[in-house]
Amino acid sequence: MPRHRHKRRVFRVFRYDPTTGDDGHFDRLELEIEGESTTTILDVLLRIQREYDPSLTFRYACRVGMCGSCGMVINGREALACQTVVADLREKEITVRPLNHVPIVKDLLVDMDPFFEKYREAIPYFEASQDTDEPAIIRPDSKERRVISDATECIACGLCLSSCTMAHWHKDYLGPGALNRAFTLLADTRDGLHEERLAQVLQACYHCRSEFNCTEVCPKEISPTRAIKYIQRLAAREAFRGEPRDLGAEEAVQEIAEQPEIGEELSRRRFLSKAIFGLGAATALTLGGLLTAAALAPSMRERLRRWVRVGRIEEFIPGSMKTVNISYKVKDGFYESLVKKPVMVSRKGNSNEIMAFNSRCTHLGCTVHWDEGKNLFLCACHGGTFYPDGRVKAGPPPRPLDRYQTTVRNGDLLIVEA
Ligand code: FES
Repeated sequence: MPRHRHKRRVFRVFRYDPTTGDDGHFDRLELEIEGESTTTILDVLLRIQREYDPSLTFRYACRVGMCGSCGMVINGREALACQTVVADLREKEITVRPLNHVPIVKDLLVDMDPFFEKYREAIPYFEASQDTDEPAIIRPDSKERRVISDATECIACGLCLSSCTMAHWHKDYLGPGALNRAFTLLADTRDGLHEERLAQVLQACYHCRSEFNCTEVCPKEISPTRAIKYIQRLAAREAFRGEPRDLGAEEAVQEIAEQPEIGEELSRRRFLSKAIFGLGAATALTLGGLLTAAALAPSMRERLRRWVRVGRIEEFIPGSMKTVNISYKVKDGFYESLVKKPVMVSRKGNSNEIMAFNSRCTHLGCTVHWDEGKNLFLCACHGGTFYPDGRVKAGPPPRPLDRYQTTVRNGDLLIVEA
């Protein structure tokens, strides 16, 4: 039986009751937490509700980061309560408050209508341009699909809107969530509402100041900033042409494909790295520092291939599977973020062969866990099942678990940051 350490942690939870007429306040509570690394903020809130105050109000449903309903501001940063582990919060006190830019209904429960209102304005639904009985198929490995691949993972949790300072200053700004959705449809060659959608979002995309807040907090690692930059580019092109012009969907995709930083599948980190690299290169050019830019490129490449320590090799017993929560800082110029993720490590019996897997299911990104009895990896929902070597055994996952490159240096197990 694993032995958990009990730790005392202080929680400050926002309370607001619309019937009292005040502005709300924080309740302070000190709790013993058993197993910080397996206790989420959602677990803590449920415990407070169960043991201390049944009137504490908040929203949740799936508990596995899929429904997007448990978004909150935790220690000043937007996050899903069900995905935020207490052990990852280093601050002495943990403060939980509701999302920004949406009305508070009670305590941590917000009214998401303004978010979905903006979503509606971006015409978020698909209508086929051609009337046919057969669905037009876009191959998963086609360029068109890969361009929008990450962006389609949005779960409409509203964290991006809450983190956006421009959404605070410009009430008419559609915001990152709605514009990201519009981008996925604008880039679809089958889109029958292309002109209407474009007309809607062109006016609404100018307020973005590339602060990357939305990109940083997105629990699905989408970069709405990237989507907005694409739409802004379309807007700029329209402005330079002087006359509004019908832009067909095929032309729009071609437009994306021609952009070196957007015509390929990009993860959030790669997009940020490229964007920051672009800024660095532009500055260098302005200063006549072409040599500086040339020197920067290899170090950027090296940063993209950084080795991260997982633990001492002897911690991984031959023939067993172990999940380790790793965290490390990624710094790209002025942008710094803390990456936290569970890594599943298996070491083959009687051998030094080590396999390390990303714990995200390759279907919808839910958390996968190792089942000792079944000797399989199981996904928390949808029935995805993987063999110990990561291959798909059953369920909807389209490909094996993502595997990290590993090495052992000075007795430390390292993986390549991905
Ligand atoms: Fe569904 Fe957190 S409860 S995302």
